Amino acid sequence: MHLEELRRNYATRSLDRDDLNADPFTQFDRWMREAIETQLLEPNAMSLATADATGRPALRTVLLKAFDRRGLVFYTNYESAKARDLAVNPRVALLFAWLPLERQVNVTGRAEKISAAESLRYFLSRPHDSQIGAWASRQSEVITTRSLLETKFAEMKAKFMQGQVPLPDHWGGYRVTPETFEFWQGRPSRMHDRFRYKLQPDGSWLIERLMP
Ligand SMILES: Cc1cc2nc3c(=O)[nH]c(=O)nc-3n(C[C@H](O)[C@H](O)[C@H](O)COP(=O)(O)O)c2cc1C
Repeated sequence: MHLEELRRNYATRSLDRDDLNADPFTQFDRWMREAIETQLLEPNAMSLATADATGRPALRTVLLKAFDRRGLVFYTNYESAKARDLAVNPRVALLFAWLPLERQVNVTGRAEKISAAESLRYFLSRPHDSQIGAWASRQSEVITTRSLLETKFAEMKAKFMQGQVPLPDHWGGYRVTPETFEFWQGRPSRMHDRFRYKLQPDGSWLIERLMP
């Protein structure tokens, strides 16, 4: 392996102030559409950073499942490690790494549980076995063997054989209300374009160019 020699010059696109929509949600929507149209693998996958009460950070991938002016929604287990972090510290950072487009977007803000009604709507749209999986796994807990998990899955599958699988109390969505967005476009010679949108007290967004 020669990691030091792996080097790529980013030269396919640029990002100017004039390209940016005044509204970061519209700008994000535009870049997400392009990521989807480019057929990137899992364009809605994002890294979610949380920190516990002592400031210790943790990072994992989750899927963005809804997005509008209120924020960015992902679904998870409400008893997981990330949920324990969010209960004491709702501040998060999100990162979309759209590398074939030589782009990344990061968002910071606060995460809040969405309503059970909204979680239910999404839960009902999931494949049956994913619904069962939400019942079978105590996310982030230690387990000695995979077979215990499979037994639990089979148990839940039998339990909910008939009718609709109910929404578990321990499962649902969080909505991240953004406070900043940063749009990053790779450029030659590491002279990349970066623009940060910062939410102002009056609800408007300040746009600033950052050095790469
Ligand atoms: C591509 C990808 C998508 C994922 N999507 C989700 C998701 O939407 N929700 C979720 O809870 N975990 C998802 N995971 C698993 C998480 O990365 C993580 O392992 C899990 O949520 C437990 O995290 P925690 O122990 O930090 O709470 C995904 C993993 C990958 C690689």
